[in-house]
Amino acid sequence: MTLALQLASHSEAQTQQLGASLGALLEPGSVVILSGDLGAGKTQFTKGIARALGIVEPITSPTFNILLQHEVGQSAVLGRSQESGREQGGASSVPSHPPAADTPVSLYHFDLYRLESEGELDDIDYFGLLEQDAASVVEWGDKFPGALPVDYLQVDFELQANDARILHGTAHGSQSERLLAAWSAAACYNDEAAHAQVLEAPL
Ligand SMILES: Nc1ncnc2c1ncn2[C@@H]1O[C@H](COP(=O)(O)OP(=O)(O)OP(=O)(O)O)[C@@H](O)[C@H]1O
Ligand SMILES: [Mg+2]
Repeated sequence: MTLALQLASHSEAQTQQLGASLGALLEPGSVVILSGDLGAGKTQFTKGIARALGIVEPITSPTFNILLQHEVGQSAVLGRSQESGREQGGASSVPSHPPAADTPVSLYHFDLYRLESEGELDDIDYFGLLEQDAASVVEWGDKFPGALPVDYLQVDFELQANDARILHGTAHGSQSERLLAAWSAAACYNDEAAHAQVLEAPL
């Protein structure tokens, strides 16, 4: 079964918000492949993911670095509970226990745009890093079709007129199907608050 989700964004801030709604759901080993044209919004989306994970350092495009690693801080607990829409009673409800076991310890932010061959992925230990207890986001992650991981959530960014974007989410593998279903539920929740527009969601 192929699950698909389509979301509309009308601003940079909305794209970040959509990223945050996904970031709140990521687990160790989650892989998010981002595709779409230059300037489509992949890095803005990643900023939202990082915010939800509690990463406070700035997120920049790793185009020239290929990979940037961000450590998830203690604030990850706050970020996740805030962004996920789970039941909470405001700031006083911030849990004092350590991050849950399913909180990624790092965010690996890849950008494969400048790589010329699939073989260069080995130079950065791409596949080894994807298996770490981290969440991985890969801009231009569909560049080498033979190098797609076994289980990944793809978000394809479609440029529309002006500042509009359509985000097409598809799940490949059982872990990503669960992730997409949860993201769909979170996005529908946000839709009611007019953060984004859900165009198509899995049943
Ligand atoms: N709805 C929108 N969502 C995201 N970005 C938007 C939107 N509308 C306008 N923008 C602008 O588009 C640009 C998106 O840049 P971003 O770096 O995220 O693209 P990218 O897909 O990562 O590009 P690249 O392939 O070069 O890495 C930003 O300048 C942002 O302000
Ligand atoms: Mg980018």
